[in-house]
Amino acid sequence: MCGIVGFVGRGPAAAPILDALRRLEYRGYDSAGIATLEHGLLTRRRAVGKLKNLESMLNCEPLVGRIGIGHTRWATHGRPSEDNAHPHAVGGVAVVHNGIIENHRELRKELKSAGACFATDTDTEVIAHLVSQQLKKGRVPIDAVRAALPRLEGAFALAFLFEGYENLIIGARKGSPLAVGYGRGEMYLGSDAIALAPLTDMINYLDDGDVTVITRQGIAFFNAQGERLRRSPAKIAGATVLAQKGEHRHFMVKEIHEQPSVVGQTLAQYIDVASGTIKIPNDAELGFRDINRVSITACGTAFYAGLIARYWFERYAGLPVEIDVASEFRYRNIPFDPGNLAVFVSQSGETADTLASLEFAKARGQRVLSVVNVASSTMARASQIVLPTLAGPEVGVASTKAFTCQLATLACLAIAAGRARGVLSADDEAALVRALVEVPGYMTRALELEPKIGQLARKLASSRNALFIGRGTNYPLALEGALKLKEITYIHAEGYAAGELKHGPIALIDKDIPVFVIAPGDMMFEKTMSNMHELIAREGRTILITDRKGASLASPGSWVTLVLPDMPALVAPLVFALPLQLIAYHTALVRGTDVDQPRNLAKSVTVE
Ligand code: M6R
Repeated sequence: MCGIVGFVGRGPAAAPILDALRRLEYRGYDSAGIATLEHGLLTRRRAVGKLKNLESMLNCEPLVGRIGIGHTRWATHGRPSEDNAHPHAVGGVAVVHNGIIENHRELRKELKSAGACFATDTDTEVIAHLVSQQLKKGRVPIDAVRAALPRLEGAFALAFLFEGYENLIIGARKGSPLAVGYGRGEMYLGSDAIALAPLTDMINYLDDGDVTVITRQGIAFFNAQGERLRRSPAKIAGATVLAQKGEHRHFMVKEIHEQPSVVGQTLAQYIDVASGTIKIPNDAELGFRDINRVSITACGTAFYAGLIARYWFERYAGLPVEIDVASEFRYRNIPFDPGNLAVFVSQSGETADTLASLEFAKARGQRVLSVVNVASSTMARASQIVLPTLAGPEVGVASTKAFTCQLATLACLAIAAGRARGVLSADDEAALVRALVEVPGYMTRALELEPKIGQLARKLASSRNALFIGRGTNYPLALEGALKLKEITYIHAEGYAAGELKHGPIALIDKDIPVFVIAPGDMMFEKTMSNMHELIAREGRTILITDRKGASLASPGSWVTLVLPDMPALVAPLVFALPLQLIAYHTALVRGTDVDQPRNLAKSVTVE
């Protein structure tokens, strides 16, 4: 989603801003722009498409100002075009914005009737008009911003630049993340610490309602009432280092191959191998004995990790689980139970719906635990208990290693709950721990399927539709497999509980639709095989993804069979995820799509 950068320093601002915008590319965007002040006047360059277009423009027509703001835009209101690209400038003020101004139509109408002329289709332009209106009334920039902000409904992170003020950037935050960075005689603003990493490791985050005033000499914070706040910067550790693709062609495939290592690291922080036990930090705070329910809330792939974890909490801890996609959670009338543990799962820790759901649950007295990959994220900072996943920076828009690290963490949490509640014995726990310890090894062997999957992908690439089916934890995994395929190949794909096929989707089956059947040789195997043969009987092309036991039990007929090592049921979803990721990746390669930044998608969805 949109990325924001601000720079005030001694040298030209455009180059560091462009560099910081590059570091925000992973969020997804469709246009970009920079504004600086030259001799006190606003000058802008904006371009549609990738940052290289903006860079070419800057090469032809450089910006020389020593203060500036920059933006990568993911279109919400108004198509991607140069006019709609940020920064927007009106009457001596320029603004960049991440978020959505929900009352922009009313404001636009009001501003138009007061004589304002609009140059864009964006919601953001109303902000520039509102602030400019205040400047015209004779207010100084900080007062103009303060007067305008209460008019805005919705979510925003904002950065402003003002004509005639060569040493002033103003930032504001409500709902969307914003960070400031400290240098020597230079100060910075960014959507996250990753953007600012080459410039500084001294970072501070704005809280909701904060306004920040940035000059070369320092950074001041004010709350919504205009009172000065005391905030000290904190040193941010290595997590902000921008990931490199190395010898890999795409971040996605690099991240797929990192899984044995990062899942191992994630497990290592929750497992004591010597004693065969799970060690959850803040275990005491969790009070598993006292809780009678778990709710899990997340979006996209993180939601599917939660769906898999539901089976684990029920099976290993005897805990009922309520699960919601975050965009629905707040809009149901949930009777909140004080004995509920509210779990939120997110790679970025900035997903707007998940974050808002977390705040919603917290405000209703729920005990809030988050499973988050970005330790400095808003969600991590807002949670009472944080279980970090150690996936490292995930750059590919399609989530891969974050998903399996989420699964690893949630599996440990479910086992810890089971042990604390007396559902699991010490021996049961030790057996499950032994299974988890083997996951990196199973994953390494799963990756050996890649050449075979590469060949399969050539046959799949011309498909227009695909189905994924499974039972038990393989059902949410089927949903995840389908999501991966549609995200990066643009092939329409759906995941189903295998038993549901006969209730409708089987009508789709013909020789042109590949069906991925996820079926390890577990207690559900025979039932899933029956479903597979119902498809084969109707000329369906089935790709069976199984383990050695399943392969030995399966009767012939599948179009292709991918065989993984035998493994305990607990860890199967973590390992079976890998062939699904590779299928999506290699099919995308054959189709020539933009694997790491698929069309229309953003890495971090910071608007509702
Ligand atoms: O950062 P989060 O884990 O909160 O993101 C949630 C979803 O937006 C994310 O998983 C999305 O579905 C991915 N593109 C899936 O590959």
